[in-house]
Amino acid sequence: MAVLVTGGAGYIGSHTAVALHESGRRVVLLDDLSNASSAAVDAVRGLTTPDLAFVEGDAADIDLVGRAMDEHGVDEVVHFAASKSVEESVREPLAYFRNNLGSVLGVLAAMEAREVRRLVFSSSCTVYGEPDDVPVTESSPTGAVNPYGWTKLHGEQLLRAVADAGGLDVMLLRYFNPIGAHPSGAIGEDPTGIPTNLVPILLQVASGRREWLQVFGGDYDTTDGSAVRDYLHVVDLAEAHVAALDALSAHPGATAVNLGTGRGHSVLEVVALAAEVVGHPIAHEVVGRRPGDAERIWADPSLAAEVLGWTAERDLRTMLEDHWRWCEAHPDGFVGARADLDP
Ligand code: WQD
Repeated sequence: MAVLVTGGAGYIGSHTAVALHESGRRVVLLDDLSNASSAAVDAVRGLTTPDLAFVEGDAADIDLVGRAMDEHGVDEVVHFAASKSVEESVREPLAYFRNNLGSVLGVLAAMEAREVRRLVFSSSCTVYGEPDDVPVTESSPTGAVNPYGWTKLHGEQLLRAVADAGGLDVMLLRYFNPIGAHPSGAIGEDPTGIPTNLVPILLQVASGRREWLQVFGGDYDTTDGSAVRDYLHVVDLAEAHVAALDALSAHPGATAVNLGTGRGHSVLEVVALAAEVVGHPIAHEVVGRRPGDAERIWADPSLAAEVLGWTAERDLRTMLEDHWRWCEAHPDGFVGARADLDP
């Protein structure tokens, strides 16, 4: 039997595909390549097996997903396919709801028609919005603060309703801040647009592709005034998806699980450690806060340890070293040069 990975050519999808292959599963990637490159599929094949199956298309297309499931004997699904830019979601909310919820509905319909009931869903800490208390547990209040976050929260609610009706066993994995890359440097984060996340931008400055980093906010109530996040190695995150599939038999229904290290790091801490990793200072300047940013958020990862038997193993230095190795090997990602990168 096989596992279908929708959005499998993406950053977390490609790393998860490698971990799933290493768990002994036959992996089928499905991706519309709207925010990923077919070169990522080739790179995943290089890390797994040359005959790893790839289906190009939209996860919202019920017939396409169904055909892929029939052709490859799929009996479990990991669903990543979604648009994920907070900034873009504010500009284009309807496109985000259509794509992100449409793909959940497409996958669910194809699964239901074949009585495939094992699913892992890519959710996000953004469902917690700007939490009052940290660390954040799975019973912390939810309430997203942007359309991207609402698509994740509504996706969870939709999946929970189907699970409650008895048709689905699903793990709702709430990621904190994934960074890093596979230690080979063969796969990594490669947003087709200009990135908005801290570490890709920081390392573009380090590699000279961008002049300087804007540090959004220096007046937060934190040790150094910059905002705090729970950064998580993408390979740890990928391994958590394997553990989540394995845990479904013992945890039927719908289960939300935070995936983080349980440790917070400030933006300026990340900048300082990255400078050590790359071997030179990285130009940055503290500017005003970015609207919508939380002051501090990190996970209480104890439920992941209890339910999945998983804890993050890699530290922030390893995350940055692995991310930097990917950047040095692929200064322009999988494909050609980017547009002008300066802020
Ligand atoms: C991290 C910190 C910024 C860029 C987002 C999504 C979340 C998840 C992870 C998908 C913040 C600061 C950033 C820059 C900066 N994605 N920063 N200068 O916003 O915590 O989370 O990505 O699930 O859903 O919301 O990540 O990397 O954008 O920001 O100072 O040029 O770095 O202000 O404090 P974020 P981020």
